[in-house]
Amino acid sequence: MISQQQIDEIIERNDIGDVIGEYVKLERKGSGYSGLCPFHNEKTPSFSVHEGKQIFKCFGCGAGGNVVNFIMRAENLSYPEALEFLAERAGITLEKSISKAQEEKNKIKNDIITVNKLAARFFYDTLKKSPAAQKYLFDRGIRAETVKQFGLGYAPDSWDALYKHFENNRIAPDIKLLEKAGLVTARKDKPGCYDKFRNRVIFPIFDVQGNVIAFGGRVMDDSLPKYLNSPETAAYSKGNNLYALNVAKKAQSDRVIIVEGYMDCIALHKAGINWAVASLGTALTQAQAKLLKKYFNEVIIGYDADSAGQKATMRGLDILAQAGFRVRVLSLADVDKNVKDPDEFLRKHSVDDFLKAVDLSKSLVEYKISKIAEKYPVTVLESKAMFLKASMQVLAGITSASEKDLYADWFAKKYNISKEALLSEMEALQNGDYVAKADTVTRRIKKASGVDSVDGANAESHSKTPEEIKLDKHIKTLIILMSEDKKVMEKYYKKVYDIADSDTNKLLLEKLKSRYDNLSKTGPEAILADAADQSDDEVRVLTDLISKWMRPPDIQAACETLVKNCIIINCERKIACINEILRNTELTSEERTALLKETAAIIEERKKYKNGN
Ligand code: CTP
Ligand code: MN
Repeated sequence: MISQQQIDEIIERNDIGDVIGEYVKLERKGSGYSGLCPFHNEKTPSFSVHEGKQIFKCFGCGAGGNVVNFIMRAENLSYPEALEFLAERAGITLEKSISKAQEEKNKIKNDIITVNKLAARFFYDTLKKSPAAQKYLFDRGIRAETVKQFGLGYAPDSWDALYKHFENNRIAPDIKLLEKAGLVTARKDKPGCYDKFRNRVIFPIFDVQGNVIAFGGRVMDDSLPKYLNSPETAAYSKGNNLYALNVAKKAQSDRVIIVEGYMDCIALHKAGINWAVASLGTALTQAQAKLLKKYFNEVIIGYDADSAGQKATMRGLDILAQAGFRVRVLSLADVDKNVKDPDEFLRKHSVDDFLKAVDLSKSLVEYKISKIAEKYPVTVLESKAMFLKASMQVLAGITSASEKDLYADWFAKKYNISKEALLSEMEALQNGDYVAKADTVTRRIKKASGVDSVDGANAESHSKTPEEIKLDKHIKTLIILMSEDKKVMEKYYKKVYDIADSDTNKLLLEKLKSRYDNLSKTGPEAILADAADQSDDEVRVLTDLISKWMRPPDIQAACETLVKNCIIINCERKIACINEILRNTELTSEERTALLKETAAIIEERKKYKNGN
């Protein structure tokens, strides 16, 4: 794995003009060069190289990208091979080629880890002196053994106990490091600092190697915020870590259970289920899925029963399935509808009961269908029709013949449908005939709506409509804008992530965020570097955008407008989809009324945004 920094260095040290000049006779033209395209036959030059932006583009055949994309094509190499090729060309030894910036960052990271370790020790020792904190943990079922295993601690009820501890004992050579670690904040009015964590139970967060990279702190009563967490630092990036993975990876288990909270995860380990990790209340990222895949093949999602937890489950399902996991969803509410999370469950029930529930976890298909059944109760005939229609989309996503049979059997029995009819409809849907079309539309509405959709098990791959192309360009432009300004990135990250409707765009966002976290290079060319291993189409769209790129004077205003436009486009896509259904599908009058009502609501929303709100 070549790091982002190394890739940047490889690109920086292979000037695109020099490299391409070795393949193509280039003539200087304006801010770059032009020549005959090496990728298609031509007599007049339509191939151009932009020196400032370090990109190439052929207006004849559409080929384009950065120096890595050029070498991939010219030498017919894969992405990593092209990087190696260019590294060698520039005399960069990959293993040892840690750049200065990387070195500096590594140093800060290691320093933060050292400081964190000392702070963790302080919190741990302080817990021993606080009867109230000990009682809190005891009441929640946590004993000394667990405190030790997870290094739990207590931050005293004082403005600067931790700061003073470091100062008095002269343990931190540089107090600034405490600040960098997010443990203290400098006072504005006078010298000194105050602690971030005060009067809280402390959960150190470890990385896979067991380093303390951050902390979470919980209040011991009902005050808010319930948890405080370390900020993102050179040592800690939330989306790249999972709580307790350092322990779970040693469990020699093929499956892992992923829960929301510190307490859930600790409760499971305490119960001997040491193959549990926690995502700490944030949306699962592709990076986390990839990290888990190193150690496990099956993931059981054990999120909270509330609606936030269920939404996160839906989102996590697809990310995990795409990463190649067998995915299952644990539903503790099926056993006891009064429990909110795994921690509560284990307080009320036995470990055996928990493991039984794990064994009964629903597969991805079962879970999605159960969610549809919640939305359209099958006891009412009309809604059963809607239920069947939506479920067919999920079932049609199953491609393996034996699984098809298995699920058809299960579904037919459970919902009292003829298995033959079911199989033939699945067949029809998969062959994409008329019925399929109407339903695909339903699916597209949900997709267009940008909310978590009850989607088919396999994402459909259809050629993009003009609106989708426009939306994709807007999102990519937003990402480029965000690459110009960290504050803007922070402000728009979540919004853009939610409206981004492709995996590539989500990935580019995640990579951009990690660039900011790692203090790496940012800007349009960095985005292109991150996209170099994506499909030709994606690279082409980005190259086009970047070749015409001009940094707007007011980045934030530009983002605001683009986000608004994306929402309007999504509204229009939804309206168009609904109209198509209304025209082409036989509907009950209830279904028709419901759709019309939905259209009215969307039109209202669109109006709101169009009027500049
Ligand atoms: N979380 C957070 N900040 C908050 C609330 C929650 O960072 N203000 C994260 C924490 O990592 C928490 C997880 O989201 O563990 C799940 O939140 P929640 O279900 O509210 O908490 P529990 O873990 O169940 O905590 P507890 O049982 O102690 O109430
Ligand atoms: Mn809880």
